[in-house]
Order: sequence, then structure tokens, then C-alpha cells
Amino acid sequence: MSWSVPLCCGTPPNTGSASCPSSRRCLDRYDVAPAIVASGSPVWDTADVAELTYRSAVFADMDSILLFWKQATEDSNRPTDSPDAVHRVIHRDPDALVLVRDGDVIVGSLVIGWDGWRCHLYRLAVLPGYRRRGIGTALLRRADERFIAFGGARADAMVLDTHDSAHELWSRAGYTQQGEWSRWVKSLT
Ligand SMILES: CC(C)(COP(=O)(O)OP(=O)(O)OC[C@H]1O[C@@H](n2cnc3c(N)ncnc32)[C@H](O)[C@@H]1OP(=O)(O)O)[C@@H](O)C(=O)NCCC(=O)NCCS
Repeated sequence: MSWSVPLCCGTPPNTGSASCPSSRRCLDRYDVAPAIVASGSPVWDTADVAELTYRSAVFADMDSILLFWKQATEDSNRPTDSPDAVHRVIHRDPDALVLVRDGDVIVGSLVIGWDGWRCHLYRLAVLPGYRRRGIGTALLRRADERFIAFGGARADAMVLDTHDSAHELWSRAGYTQQGEWSRWVKSLT
């Protein structure tokens, strides 16, 4: 089962190109697209979570996103979450932050970051009670589709070396650790 990237005018959504005059129109399509179900087949083997939907985050999701990340993320030593940071990512790229929801409750997230040059993933998280049901994998599959639509050549993610429980997920999604590189960082705050 694969998700299709919605196209409103033949360009990837929200590219801001001249042939795509309204990025919000694309976003609206995301908002209403029954992306979880296609051809009558559920994307996830989640019989007990049949109502899951996924869509791009909107500004109104702000408080729910911050609450969700408090409950679902486990990584450490990263910049603090803030409404400004969430606002910036949605403003910069309205389709970057993808949410999975069970009704009104956010149960999964992934920032699928395309900067015009590289493909970066952040904030892969699933609410504890919803884990091991394929949601994380489905979000990564969604990322593949978005990146490929933009012409991206390689996706990357920061994964803690000690985060054994996540390694299997990344491996199974096709990611490998790049041993010859390390991450160099500089704080800007
Ligand atoms: C990591 C995380 C996103 C996985 O989400 P998920 O929806 O449970 O993942 P999936 O159900 O798609 O798992 C796919 C496979 O990954 C592996 N996997 C996932 N979670 C695992 C765990 N805790 N321990 C071992 N393997 C795990 C399994 O092989 C699993 O397949 P299986 O359930 O058939 O055995 C979720 O546990 C989470 O949000 N953790 C906290 C935040 C986090 O660590 N994010 C990743 C940062 S790098």
C-alpha cells in the first residue's frame, strides 16, 4: 500500500512555484484527503485504531503538538520546543510537519524537512499507547514519497547511538548508520 502525494497542479505541494499559486489549496487537499485508507485497504494493521487520519499540521494544532511531544518524544540534548519553533516550521513549509491523529488526539508526528537541497527527518514520535502498530513505519514511508516527489536523493535522520529501540525501526525502513561522519553542532542561542 502506498500513499500518493497529492498534486494540485502538477507540482509537488506547497513549492510556492508560479504554477502552484495557492500553497494552501494543496494543504487543504491534505486536510481532507483520506490518506489513511485507499482502495478500501487500511494502511496500518490497526484494527483497534480504525479512525486514524493523517494530515499536515496547522497553526491551530500548536498546543496539541507541544503536549504530544512532551508525552511521546524521548530524545535529549536538543533545542527546547516552543510555540515559536512550531509556528516557524509550519510557516516555512506547511507540509513539513505531518501529524497522525485518532479523532482529535495527536498520536504520531514526523517533520519531513526538504530544504531544497537535502532531505532531513525530525520528530518521529508515536504516542506510547499506539506504538508497535506500524505508525512510525507508515510515517517514514510517507517521508519517502514526499522526498522523492521533490527529487531528493537521500534522506537522513539524527538517531541517538544509545537509542536501541529506535534502531530496528530505522533499519527496517532502509536507513543505515553512516559511520564515517559525525555530527558537528554549534548553539545559536
Ligand atoms: C520509535 C517509535 C517512533 C516507533 O514507532 P512505532 O509506531 O512503534 O513503530 P512501528 O510500529 O512502525 O515499528 C516498526 C518496527 O520497528 C521496530 N521497533 C519499533 N519499536 C521498537 C522497540 N521499542 N523495540 C524494538 N524494536 C522496535 C520493530 O521491528 C517494529 O516492528 P514489529 O512491531 O513488527 O516488531 C516510537 O517508539 C516512539 O515514538 N518512541 C519515542 C520517540 C523516539 O524514540 N523517536 C525516534 C527518535 S530517533
